Amino acid sequence: MSIAPRPWVNDIQSYRPGAASGSEDGSMASNESPLGASPRLGAALADAVSRLHRYPDPLAGELCSKLASLHGVHPDQILVGNGSDELIFLLSTAFLAQGGHAVCAEPAYQIDAISAASVNARVTRVPLAQWKHDLAAMARVRADIAYVVNPHNPTGTVRSLQEIRAFAESDAASLVVVDEAYIDFTEDPEAMTAIPLVASGRVAVLRTFSKIHGLAGLRIGYLVAAKEVIAALRKVRAPFSVGTLAQAAALNALEDTGHRDAVREHTLRVRNELCRLLAAHQLHAVESHANFVLVPVPDEAGFVAGLRAHGVSVRPGSALGAPGTVRISVPTEAGLALLAEALHHVLPVNHLETCDHR
Ligand SMILES: Cc1ncc(COP(=O)(O)O)c(C=O)c1O
Repeated sequence: MSIAPRPWVNDIQSYRPGAASGSEDGSMASNESPLGASPRLGAALADAVSRLHRYPDPLAGELCSKLASLHGVHPDQILVGNGSDELIFLLSTAFLAQGGHAVCAEPAYQIDAISAASVNARVTRVPLAQWKHDLAAMARVRADIAYVVNPHNPTGTVRSLQEIRAFAESDAASLVVVDEAYIDFTEDPEAMTAIPLVASGRVAVLRTFSKIHGLAGLRIGYLVAAKEVIAALRKVRAPFSVGTLAQAAALNALEDTGHRDAVREHTLRVRNELCRLLAAHQLHAVESHANFVLVPVPDEAGFVAGLRAHGVSVRPGSALGAPGTVRISVPTEAGLALLAEALHHVLPVNHLETCDHR
């Protein structure tokens, strides 16, 4: 090959995806929805299929209006993307390229650091404190963008709205991007969300349809931010990155609140059962407010391989910057039974302990 990547591209550690299991129920590596998408999705997509010979609405106008009224903001404060990952890359292109500086946690959501590194921005990683964002330490870093993933991935831990407000007001970062991919699985999402802080102009909030809405395969997410931030991102985006089917699926997901509530109820209940099961094997999960738990284990590689041999795929913590742990997504009921059986083979059962976070 005669062309060479830019030097900084060579230094990027590629995203490491989770391995799928051989079965639906055994797949616990990628924080997907165990209950799938809305049962009304098929009908919503069938209607959209008749429009596939046309380009999609470039700015997803109908969806933006619905999201704007849902969140009490102006439609010009919303940008829909091909997954929230696309929006993270756009933030890097518009605000970090050529000498920008991002601060994130260590471990971080991988894409935050990869996207910043891809435009040769400086990335400062601030170690977590007791598995949570160390906002006091992050506030000592002068950065263009600070990423706060709330609840955090891979830990599931949260910082309160008051803590995030104080961090944003510290002025350390020009823009605090609060990634709320897992907010629906917290105790009180309405009280926790940083969307009210967007009005300050210093905070932007990322959301995705991949988690509670079960649309990870369609790729759709959105950013709520100041109009000026959205206007800058619109300049650097590919105009048709969000397809017609994805837009139709997202509109349907917003309407099907019954399905959303069912997924939330399932996730909170089975998360507790999962913690109890792990505790019975003397494995103590980090307190999680997301649809997964992070669990310190004595032998990470052996544990992952052992579960895999019994049909359960979980994410090794080393691949997420948290060596000595595994991350387990909340499964279906059948998945939980499969995990119980696998654990029985991989680890001895001790006594039953409770882990009720509700
Ligand atoms: C914190 C966080 N943000 C964003 C994403 C990606 O969302 P999307 O599927 O919308 O790109 C994930 C996916 O796992 C995530 O964990």
